[in-house]
Amino acid sequence: MRRPLLAGNWKMHYGVSEGVALVEALSADLTDLNDRDVVVCPPFTLLGSLAPLLDGTAVALGAQNMHYEAKGAFTGEIAPQMLKELGCSYVILGHSERRQYFGETDELINRKAHAALANGLKPIVCVGEVKAERDSGQAESVVVGQLRGSLAGLSAEQLRSVVIAYEPVWAIGTGHTATPADAQAMHARIRAELAALSDQATADAIIIQYGGSVKPDNVDELMAQPDIDGALVGGAALKAADFIRIVRFK
Ligand code: PGA
Repeated sequence: MRRPLLAGNWKMHYGVSEGVALVEALSADLTDLNDRDVVVCPPFTLLGSLAPLLDGTAVALGAQNMHYEAKGAFTGEIAPQMLKELGCSYVILGHSERRQYFGETDELINRKAHAALANGLKPIVCVGEVKAERDSGQAESVVVGQLRGSLAGLSAEQLRSVVIAYEPVWAIGTGHTATPADAQAMHARIRAELAALSDQATADAIIIQYGGSVKPDNVDELMAQPDIDGALVGGAALKAADFIRIVRFK
C-alpha cells in the first residue's frame, strides 16, 4: 500500500549553522524508519551544505520551488538539473505562498511538474482553497480545478511519481487545522479526481499529504484517516523534537 511521506517545508528560515544543527538532530534520531519516508525542504542556499550530511540517512532532500527551463537567461531562477545535482529528490511546486505572492498559476505549475519529472525529481504539487472559497461551498471545485490544471498531460506512470499536498490556505500557519473529517473528505475527492485523470490503481498508489498547522498533537488523528498519506509541515518542521514526533505519528 501507500508508504507515508512526512515532509518539512522550512520556507525562508535558517542559515547554514541552524540548518546543519536541525538535520543532524533529525538524522541522528530517525535511524529506524522502515515504513515511512521523510524529506526536508530547506532554502536553496542550504542545499549544498546539507546534502552531504543527509547522504546515506533516512532523510531525503527537497527544494521549495524551481524553474521549468533547463538553463538560460532567467535571473534568480534555479533549474531542475541544478537541484538534482545537489542531491534533491523532491521539489515542492505551487505552494499557496507561491500562488498568492508570486502569481503562480496552474499552467506554470504544470510546466514545472513536467520538468521535474523529466529530470527525475518527485514533485509535491500543492492545492488548496482559501477561506472565502470554503465558506461559499466552492472548496472542492477549486481544488479539482487546480488538480486538472497542474497535472495536465501527465501519464499514469508519471502520476505515480507525483505527491499531492492538500493545504487549505486558511489552515497554513494559523493553528486552525482542518478537522480530520473535512480533510479526509477532500482527500477522497482528490483521489477520485486522480482516478478520473488516470485509473483507479494509479490513484490508489498516489501519496496525498495534508498540510496546514500539522503539529505533534494533531498528526495522529489526521494520519488515521484512510486517504491521508502524509503531511507537509511548515512551522513544526523547524524544531527537531516536533518534527521527529510528527514523523513518528502513531
Ligand atoms: P504550517 O505550514 O505547517 O506552518 O501551517 C504548512 C505549509 O505551508 O506547507
